[in-house]
Amino acid sequence: MSTVVITGAQWGDEGKGKMVDILTEDADYIVRYQGGHNAGHTVVIGDSKFILHLIPSGILRPGKKCVIGNGVVIDPQALLAEIDGLLEKGIEVRGNLLISGRAHIIMPYHRAIEKESEKQKGSLKIGTTGRGIGPTYADKVARVGIRVADILDKEVFRDKLKTNIQEMNYFLERLYGAKGFILEDIYDEYTGYAERLRDFITDTAVLLNRALREGKNILFEGAQGTHLDVDHGTYPYVTSSNATSGGACTGTGVGPTKIDKVVGVVKAYTTRVGSGPFPTELNDAIGEFLRDKGREYGATTGRPRRCGWFDAVATRYAADVNGFTGMIITKMDVLDELNEIKICTGYRYQGKLYTEMPSQLNVLEECEPVYETMKGWQASTAGLSNYEAMPVNAKKYIERMQELVGVDVDIISTGFRRDETIILKKIF
Ligand code: GDP
Ligand code: IMO
Ligand code: MG
Repeated sequence: MSTVVITGAQWGDEGKGKMVDILTEDADYIVRYQGGHNAGHTVVIGDSKFILHLIPSGILRPGKKCVIGNGVVIDPQALLAEIDGLLEKGIEVRGNLLISGRAHIIMPYHRAIEKESEKQKGSLKIGTTGRGIGPTYADKVARVGIRVADILDKEVFRDKLKTNIQEMNYFLERLYGAKGFILEDIYDEYTGYAERLRDFITDTAVLLNRALREGKNILFEGAQGTHLDVDHGTYPYVTSSNATSGGACTGTGVGPTKIDKVVGVVKAYTTRVGSGPFPTELNDAIGEFLRDKGREYGATTGRPRRCGWFDAVATRYAADVNGFTGMIITKMDVLDELNEIKICTGYRYQGKLYTEMPSQLNVLEECEPVYETMKGWQASTAGLSNYEAMPVNAKKYIERMQELVGVDVDIISTGFRRDETIILKKIF
């Protein structure tokens, strides 16, 4: 038995999908523990490209059991569309996908409230994916949320919906001057979804703990990244769940004593989608180069990603709060052509040097990154699967990342395909 948590070490889009697909080979269960269809995890297999939003990336390997845990928020319409899309491509979903009855449901009013609230914030908007994630988690924490199991029981569902719609319509109509929702419309739509999803729903905490007792390997697939975590990220410019490794326990019902490894996925540079502080952001030709070469456009919303240098301060913080036992470095090939590469080793704010991430947003926003400069390798690492073949300066860059973050590198990714991967240490 072995359990591994994969989490994003930065602001998401580190390449978690590709790595989860690779590690799935040795896993029996692949489990999403937080977030929703705000995630976009890309997996390329041969000539086919898949973007998974809600379903674990493990679904692409035949026979693997994929679980959507209680910590996830589910938009049933989006989930059914994703299931249909996979079926069309010949991927077997039925029997392989299991959904927690305790996961919360995204309702149409959550999306509407989010849209109005973002509009109201103007320039201070979070720049969300517009999927209704925040308002759904807000209802969960306010103890008025509707769970997957609730929509299976028509009476329970109608009662909860009635109370919620009253309140939501009050906000939508009176506060925002927007259109409210009609109970019967949502009731009919969602009871229809419930029937299609019924067979997938089970007690996934019981299922996973039984699997552990049977000696199965479990891979937890984090969504978003550490600095988008609602507790540890650049609050309020974060998502509304615990993307960090602790979320793997609370979001699935597997206890902390059962977790063997926590592996952080780290992009060789940094990207961020949406608003919020990003100390090493490059609004220049190098930033554009990274966006073009790295194809840094959102897998969910298509928005151009903000790009910048690798931030060792932010990543060391990620190593601490997640308890990384290892790191996976992705997209090394994107840096191939650069003649010099910078690494942020500290921040300067009002003349003072910070070597840890400040918790006050206004301080972080005004921090100037302190860089050390390394020589580029100006040779191709694209597609390499053998560490010895890496250019000397690329090895030096990896070693420096390792030293500054204080965590060993297990895997290096040199392209988006499965075989474009250097395995230094087996994770399972
Ligand atoms: P995720 O959200 O963490 O799963 O990452 P995304 O799928 O949103 O974004 C990562 C992008 O980088 C995807 O388009 C991947 O196909 C691609 N990718 C992953 N690893 C590598 C790599 O090592 N090199 C290159 N060039 N692309 C990669
Ligand atoms: P993956 O799993 C990158 C960002 C949004 C926004 C903030 C809040 O593909 O790495 P939300 O809709 O969650 O309330 O938006 O979080 N965001 C992501 N950025 N990758 C993601 O997922 C993200 N999921 C949410 O852009 O800034
Ligand atoms: Mg993504």
